This record gives sequence, C-alpha cells and structure tokens, in this order.
Amino acid sequence: MKIDVYFTPLGLNAGDLTGRGVVVIDVLRATSSIVAALSAGAKAVVPAATSEEAVRLTANLEKDGIVLAGERRMVKIEGFGLGNSPREMTPDAVRGKTMYLATTNGTPALVAAQAGEPILVAAALNFSAVAERARAVFADRGDLVILCAGRERQFALEDAYTAGRLIKAVKKGARKVTLNDAAQVSLDLAGQQGGWEDAFDSSDAARQLREAGLGEDVAYCAHPDRFNVVPVYADRRITA
Ligand code: MLT
Repeated sequence: MKIDVYFTPLGLNAGDLTGRGVVVIDVLRATSSIVAALSAGAKAVVPAATSEEAVRLTANLEKDGIVLAGERRMVKIEGFGLGNSPREMTPDAVRGKTMYLATTNGTPALVAAQAGEPILVAAALNFSAVAERARAVFADRGDLVILCAGRERQFALEDAYTAGRLIKAVKKGARKVTLNDAAQVSLDLAGQQGGWEDAFDSSDAARQLREAGLGEDVAYCAHPDRFNVVPVYADRRITA
C-alpha cells in the first residue's frame, strides 16, 4: 500500500497520475472556494489554467447560466463576477450556475491532475467527508496520490499540513503503508503543528492574504467540516 504526495504540480512527470486516485489540495484558497461554491448550490465548477482560457471557454455560453470567478495576486480579475474568496460563494451568487474558475496555483494544479481517476477536491471545510472518500479509494486500490497546489511553484505549508492530516486519516488501521518523502514530511508536519488555525496562520499564504486585507478568509478556510460535500473532477467539470 502506497501514498505519494507532490508539493507542487512541477514534480509531476507524464503518466505519474494516470488512473490513480488523486486528492487535490489548495486550501488557501481555491479548493476551499470550490467546496463552498458547490455547497451553496453551484451546478458545477470548471477549472481553467488561465483567465484567458476561462474567458474563451465561456465566450459562446448563455451568460445567466454561468459565472466567471478568479484572482490575480489574490484580488478579483477585472471583468469577472467573483474573486476567489469562499465567503463570496453564496447561494445568490452561484446557485444553479456553472462557475468558471481561474486562479494562480489551484486551478493549474487541478488541470495537471486530469489523468487521475477519481480526482477528489479537498479542503479543511470538507475534511471529514473527503477523508472518508479518500480512505475508501485507498482501501480499494492500495494506492493514493495527494497533489498540493503549492504557491508560486513553491512549497506551501498549509497544503502540506492538510496533506499530513489526510494521510493520518486515510492510513489509520492499515498495515505496511509506504510513504514517499513528501508524504512522510507532511505527516510529521501535521503532528508538530497545533490545529488548523495555527498551521494556516503561520503560512506565507496567510501573511499575504492578511496584507491584502483578506485575513478573514484564512480563519474561514481553517474551520474544519463546515460542509460535507465531496467534489469530484471528471470530464473537465467538478461536481458534488
Ligand atoms: C491560488 O489558487 O492560487 C490561490 O487560491 C490564490 C488565492 O489566494 O486566491
């Protein structure tokens, strides 16, 4: 039985994920926003690698059935309906709509994971629900990949911490589980840090969000099990 963690999609080689069960994590903030949007009644979320691609994908679509969302340097992209804050994902803003999302790290990581099956979307907000599903995939396959989005192609503490918590939950009771180095470090990190809020608060991402006046998003994203949705990414769409 094996669990591999990648701290950014950069470490991936072609074929590394093909047919494997994958969990994608970008807790500050893309996967948190996806969980919040689907919990607020969004029909689906379509991750785009770039904002230009999001605009191209929606060019010929009925405007009232869709919403463009995303950030550049954490602030809403000009001309888009929403930014990338999970607090913006209200029923009024997203219910019944397909959200086309473009972010700096999270959506490129999702696009990089497309060869996986299934592909689950994880955050603290839906932790217990997604851990249960990941555990079932691991029990069935004896294998699991956790792909962290990272930040600007670098290690992101909040993603690795969440990966460590997930490994602990998924491998509980399983014997002889082989962890790659990144998985071992993530598990150790989850054992060293205090709770979700302490871990998230001490990250570069949290510092940058606070400087951008988005500190409330850090506290919101660090609240475990606010929702029990398990988003699954297939055929270029994420649905509950
Ligand atoms: C990302 O996907 O790059 C992050 O979620 C950026 C952000 O904080 O919005």
